[in-house]
Amino acid sequence: METKRKKVLITGCSSGFGLLTAVSAAKAGFDVVATMRNLDKDVDLRLALDAANVNAEIAELDVTVPQSIKTVVRRYGPFDILVNNAGILMGGSFLNITDSEMRSVFETDYFGAVNLTREVVPEMIERHFGLIINIASLAGRVGHLFNAAYGAAKHGLIGFSRSIRLELKPFNIKVVSVEPGYFKTEVIGNNAYLTENFHDRNSPMFELNRGFLRMMMKEVIPKAGNPQVVADKIVKIMQTSRPRNHYIIGKDAWFAVIAQQLGLLRLVEKAVYAKLIRNTQREIKRKQKM
Ligand SMILES: NC(=O)c1ccc[n+]([C@@H]2O[C@H](COP(=O)([O-])OP(=O)(O)OC[C@H]3O[C@@H](n4cnc5c(N)ncnc54)[C@H](OP(=O)(O)O)[C@@H]3O)[C@@H](O)[C@H]2O)c1
Repeated sequence: METKRKKVLITGCSSGFGLLTAVSAAKAGFDVVATMRNLDKDVDLRLALDAANVNAEIAELDVTVPQSIKTVVRRYGPFDILVNNAGILMGGSFLNITDSEMRSVFETDYFGAVNLTREVVPEMIERHFGLIINIASLAGRVGHLFNAAYGAAKHGLIGFSRSIRLELKPFNIKVVSVEPGYFKTEVIGNNAYLTENFHDRNSPMFELNRGFLRMMMKEVIPKAGNPQVVADKIVKIMQTSRPRNHYIIGKDAWFAVIAQQLGLLRLVEKAVYAKLIRNTQREIKRKQKM
């Protein structure tokens, strides 16, 4: 695929993979429409574009608002490439997540991508060309404890990608699923929400929720990778004429997926479980000392 003049729509560009991909794609010569739900958060993207000496259209797009999707597609379309990147995460046991929190994860991580794809694809069909890149997650391949809504939505997104790939094949539209492990972005930083009832002392999950949080803070997040790796891979996918169906990114993701393929996932789960219990016990001890 030629990189020049291909028009790319990217969601969730206020930070993380979206921001980095917008800048890297602009540097690679793509015509980038970088969107975010709140334009007050455009400073970091503008600074990064300036620093790289490149341009991109910056537009408002909340993937959970149908009218917002329609407005952007009407104003800036047609697009050659769509990167469904916007996502949120809600940490805490499935017993402590409210119905509306659960739905908001699905509205963003699953329906947001689905609805935008449905809006963009008809023009791709007309032009007999297109590439949809869905940013899923390792959490869409294996279970994601204390993030059940996120894991379920990402499993759904991978299932959606696999299904529509076949439907869109006759129209020369390719559908790719990107499945990173942990990378240092705001989804595990400032944007990492905890469920409303995370700290409910009456919940049987009270201690385990805290143990999970400690495990994330002490053992998982410090080892998270450099998100530029993911942005570079996404731009590579945009540039290739024959992209693969799935891109697993990061050592942690590869490790889990290979274990799964070898039928050894239960050993990985056993190790994660041991980590959870260890961190829960340490957290209980810490609280007792206070
Ligand atoms: N980082 C990881 O370890 C990791 C691993 C696997 C997959 N992912 C996936 O990668 C994608 C990008 O996340 P990230 O890691 O780069 O985290 P991030 O820095 O938190 O970026 C998430 C982006 O999504 C935006 N967003 C949230 N709700 C939205 C909505 N309703 N409409 C439009 N934009 C919305 C956020 O905007 P606001 O600033 O307004 O909140 C932000 O720009 C997500 O789908 C995430 O699930 C991340």
